[in-house]
Amino acid sequence: MEFQGQHILSIDQFDREAVENILRVAEQMAPYTSRQKRSTLLEGATLASLFFEPSTRTRISFASAFNLLGGKVMETVGIDISSLSKGESLFDTAQVVSGYADAVVMRHSEAFSVAEFAAGSRVPVLNGGDGANEHPTQALLDSYTIFSELKRLGKPASKLRVALVGDLKNGRTVHSLSRLLSLFPKMEFTFVAPNALTMPEKIMAICENAGHRISITQDFSSGLQNQDVVYMTRVQEERFDTQEEANLYRGKYRLTQPIYDQYCNPDTIIMHPLPRDSRPEANELSDDLNRNPNLAIFRQSDNGVKIRMALFALVLGVENKLAQYEAPVTWYSNKS
Ligand code: CP
Repeated sequence: MEFQGQHILSIDQFDREAVENILRVAEQMAPYTSRQKRSTLLEGATLASLFFEPSTRTRISFASAFNLLGGKVMETVGIDISSLSKGESLFDTAQVVSGYADAVVMRHSEAFSVAEFAAGSRVPVLNGGDGANEHPTQALLDSYTIFSELKRLGKPASKLRVALVGDLKNGRTVHSLSRLLSLFPKMEFTFVAPNALTMPEKIMAICENAGHRISITQDFSSGLQNQDVVYMTRVQEERFDTQEEANLYRGKYRLTQPIYDQYCNPDTIIMHPLPRDSRPEANELSDDLNRNPNLAIFRQSDNGVKIRMALFALVLGVENKLAQYEAPVTWYSNKS
């Protein structure tokens, strides 16, 4: 796949080779994220960061990635402070913003809105999450995390058992991750969700048509057993018609250290795209797991910067020029 000038909108764009290329370039970003070196690769370039839905990780890690490559970031946060609130179309907004920037990252509450925006953009647009549809860069950082955690544990990546747990209907991260993992051989997916929040048929068909085994259950304890990865998710309360309806499902699945000890393998990797909902009525991933060495959630969020640096380097066509634009780090840092 040729990346230069492309939008990054959906995992559908990628074959396995393209994903492996992104993960390989992401690995080359480690000296910069660990502050062993700094980069001036994108000096003079500008990113427009448009977040029309709340975000901590995606928004800040995209900005951090662009900054670490030497570029500058312009931010617009919230529809109410953009002219979308005055009825401007996504197409017109894209025409305008792409005149000011070299790349755009966008999050929006409507499925396919980022693709609609991209159709009007003259520069690469990266999808930071479009409603309940997709979150492709999260899936890339999730797969990077899975492969690096398996390596840490000395386990092969050749046959992977993954349980996806929670709100699989509305959770865009699990939609993108299932699509992405389906590109790799010999996957076994276990979809653990209440009947009303089960994985969309379309995504399950992608997994099955790629030759993978899938099982569907509402039962948390059986879903946790014999898994290499348990990927917990938050009930996406912002996608429900009422809070009362969301509350029917919050707290249904709670992974705690005693539950992990009882049902998971001792080396099961625990993941979550974050934010976890730590309020007592939800608490799907208990903080009593914080000292569990297989809790990968913060390594996962750290990996987002490397993946997003790789994507910027690829879509801006500079992935082979890193060595030419590196410089020493002169300030104190204990990140290494
Ligand atoms: N994982 C994720 O998308 O987190 P934010 O909503 O904080 O960006």
